[in-house]
Amino acid sequence: MAGVAADDSAFSSAEKQAIARHGPWPQPVLRDPSNRGSGNADAIALGRALFFDARLSVKGDMACATCHQPARGLADGRDRAQGRERLDRNTPGLWNVGLAHWFGWDGAADSLWSFALRPILNSLELGATPAHVAKVLGGDPAYACLRRNAFGKAAATKASDDQMMVDAAKALAAFMETLNSGKSPFDELHDVLARGDAAAVAQYPADARRGLRIFAGRGNCAVCHFGPNFSNGEFHEIGIPYLLGAGRVDAGRQGGIKAVRADKFNLLGAFSDDASRASGSRTRHVTENHANFGQFKVPSLRNVELTAPYMHNGKLATLRDVVHHYSELSEDRLHQDGEALLKPLRLTDAEADDLVAFLRTLTSRQFPAVAPPLKPTCEPRK
Ligand code: HEC
Ligand code: HEC
Repeated sequence: MAGVAADDSAFSSAEKQAIARHGPWPQPVLRDPSNRGSGNADAIALGRALFFDARLSVKGDMACATCHQPARGLADGRDRAQGRERLDRNTPGLWNVGLAHWFGWDGAADSLWSFALRPILNSLELGATPAHVAKVLGGDPAYACLRRNAFGKAAATKASDDQMMVDAAKALAAFMETLNSGKSPFDELHDVLARGDAAAVAQYPADARRGLRIFAGRGNCAVCHFGPNFSNGEFHEIGIPYLLGAGRVDAGRQGGIKAVRADKFNLLGAFSDDASRASGSRTRHVTENHANFGQFKVPSLRNVELTAPYMHNGKLATLRDVVHHYSELSEDRLHQDGEALLKPLRLTDAEADDLVAFLRTLTSRQFPAVAPPLKPTCEPRK
C-alpha cells in the first residue's frame, strides 16, 4: 500500500486544473433557437404532462416515463429497452440531456425535439401517428390552451397533423431541457478547491480521490468524458461488440449520420423555427466515413451510478464491469487507428474499486422533482 500515503496528499496544480475543467455545475441550458417552445413556461408544462401521458401511445398503455423512470435516473434498469418487443439498445438516463447536441446512441437526431418524434412514431414504442397525436393535443382543453399559449394563435387554428406532432415534440423537449441535475459530491470538491478551502477538500473521500487521479491522469477518461457534463458530445468506439446476432449489426454512428441527413425533421428542414438555419450547421457539415462504423455517443457520467446496466446495448452490468472493460480491453478489438487513446489500463483490484468510488461521487445529492402535474391547468393568453 505504498502509494496510498502519496495519493492522499494535496492535489497537484495539474490535477487542480483537470478538476476545474469539469465545472462549474450546474451549466445553463441555452435556449434552442429551432424550438419556439424552448424556455417557455406553457410549453414546459405541456411537455411535462405529455411525458407521463399514456394517451399519447396508440394503445393508451405506454408513455415516455414507462422507460425513462424518475426513480431509475430516468432510465429503466434493463439491458435493452422493452417496448412492444425488446429494442436493440439500452435506455439512457435523461438528466442534463439539454446540454447535448446529438441525440440517441448514434446521434440520429440533431435536436432534442426531433429525437422525441422517434419514440412517438416507432411501432415498437408509442406507435402513434401524427393524426393520433393531433387528436390527443386537440381533444384535451388544457393541452389545447397550453399549446396555443406556447406556439401561437395562428399555429393553433390551421396546423397540419405533422405540425401538431412537432409541437408536442417541442413541448417535450422544452420540458426535458429543464432536467438539470443538482450538485454532486464531486461538484462540492470542485467548488471548495476553487475557493482554496483545504479543510473542506479533505472531506472528499480518499478512495474517490485516488480514483479521480486515475480518471484525469493515466486513465485518459477525461479526453472523451470531457467538461462539466463528462461528455465531449461526440462518437467513439471503445470495443463494445455491436453484433445483434443472426448476422445483424448495429452500425452506430454510421447509421446515425445517414438517418439525420435524410430526416425531414432535421435542423435544415421546414419544421425548425430558426429562420437563419444557423443551428443546422453541424448537420450541414457532417460527413460519413468508414471510421464511424461501430461508434457510439460518449455518454455523460453524471448520475451514472443510477442507470445500470451500461453501454449502448446494456452489455455491462455494473460500474465494476465497465472499469474492468477499460482495464483489460483487447487492442485488436478496436478496429480503428483513431482510438489510440485507449490502452488497457491493467488496474489492480484496489485501483478499480477507487475508480468506481470516484464515479459514484458524480451522483447528485438531490434531484428536482420530475413528477407529473395531477392535472395541468391553463389560462388562455390573449
Ligand atoms: C420502450 C422504451 C422507451 C420509451 C417508451 C421512450 N424511450 Fe426514450 N429512449 C429509449 C431508448 C432505447 C433510447 C436510445 C435510442 C437510440 O439510441 O436509438 C432512448 C433515447 C432517448 C433520448 C436520447 C437521449 C440521449 O442522451 O441522446 C431522448 C431525448 C428520449 N429517449 C426521450 C424520450 C421521450 C420524449 C419519449 C416519449 C415520447 C421516450 N423517450 C420514450 C427508450 C424509450
Ligand atoms: C475514446 C473515448 C473514451 C475514453 C477514453 C473513455 N470512454 Fe467511457 N465511453 C465512451 C463511449 C463511446 C461510451 C459508450 C460506448 C458504447 O455504448 O458502445 C462510453 C461509456 C462509458 C460508461 C458507461 C456509461 C453508460 O451510461 O452506459 C462509463 C461508466 C464510462 N464510459 C467510463 C469511462 C472511464 C472510467 C474511462 C477511463 C478509464 C473512460 N470511460 C474512457 C468513450 C470513452
